[in-house]
Amino acid sequence: MAVDVSGAPSFRDATRADIPAIVALNDSALPHVNELPPATWLRFVEGEARLRVAADGAGGIAAFTAALPPGRAYGSHNYAWFQRRMARFLYLDRIVVAAAFRRDGWGRAAYRDVFASAPDPGAPVACEVNLDPPNDPSLAFHGGLGFREVGVQVVPGSGKRVAMLARRPDGVVEPSLAGPDDGATLRRATPADAEAVAAHVAAADIAGALASGRLLALLAERAGEGIVGIAALADEASGGAGAECCILEALHVAPGLRGRGIGARLVAAARREAKARGRRRVEAAIPDGVRSPAVLAFCATNGFAPAGQRMRIELA
Ligand SMILES: CC(C)(COP(=O)(O)OP(=O)(O)OC[C@H]1O[C@@H](n2cnc3c(N)ncnc32)[C@H](O)[C@@H]1OP(=O)(O)O)[C@@H](O)C(=O)NCCC(=O)NCCS
Repeated sequence: MAVDVSGAPSFRDATRADIPAIVALNDSALPHVNELPPATWLRFVEGEARLRVAADGAGGIAAFTAALPPGRAYGSHNYAWFQRRMARFLYLDRIVVAAAFRRDGWGRAAYRDVFASAPDPGAPVACEVNLDPPNDPSLAFHGGLGFREVGVQVVPGSGKRVAMLARRPDGVVEPSLAGPDDGATLRRATPADAEAVAAHVAAADIAGALASGRLLALLAERAGEGIVGIAALADEASGGAGAECCILEALHVAPGLRGRGIGARLVAAARREAKARGRRRVEAAIPDGVRSPAVLAFCATNGFAPAGQRMRIELA
């Protein structure tokens, strides 16, 4: 529902007087954001976080964001996850737009403000979104803004499974950070892997196709478990040497290992391989029958956008 306020949303630093309204707005969005103790809100407003608010035109608050640079004492497991892996980042701890103002550009405006006022302008903005319980609107929102999944974690003590997302200001895709947690190593398949690849790709002479480079397969392996994931790329059939597009023929992660970021790492590696071949797009045929919310959320956070019957990644 659109609410009549004059002009585009504008954000300002929050003051102590804003805290009750911010807390009310925060708590209206549980469980997509968590509750914080009063002392944390106070530390935020006193400078631990960059706490920004947008007025609703009626004396209240329509939206707020809280963001922290590295090196703060904030005791969030998700903040700590990024802190262990990234030297430079701005952690977007939370963004909430009041229900009456959603789908009207306030979230997008909030992120414009976050990027424009970032203390380290070159640093990626990092955040997490709940996968379990799912927050599909936020996954779609962040995917549309160019955020990409760089890992997944189960938050200690809460049981929530969250997608760890990042977006660089220049739009360059942040490499996956999931390695240390998913325990998998990635390598290119050789002709000796033809049997494993053939389990996921329907083509004649897989060994020959792997040997000649017509088919490129990336394998994820875990010690003691062998191959646990695969992404297979081939040039578009009609394309030949001048093809602009690689087709993602297969993307598969062993069912018991899903949700740990292995799929995101395989997509990131496939994207790098396609780019190294000079291709401009990666496309995957995803029939209606398999377009579940989970598949669509994975696509959105891994850079795919719908393109007719296919999903497409544009390689900038
Ligand atoms: C996620 C949230 C911040 C988005 O704010 P918003 O003001 O509604 O977002 P915008 O209007 O700027 O949306 C920008 C784009 O994001 C996408 N988007 C936003 N909400 C969406 C939804 N519910 N479903 C699908 N796409 C959505 C759309 O592409 C949208 O563009 P469009 O409206 O032109 O199609 C808001 O839904 C919210 O506060 N949710 C509750 C708290 C929360 O989940 N916070 C995030 C925790 S990770």
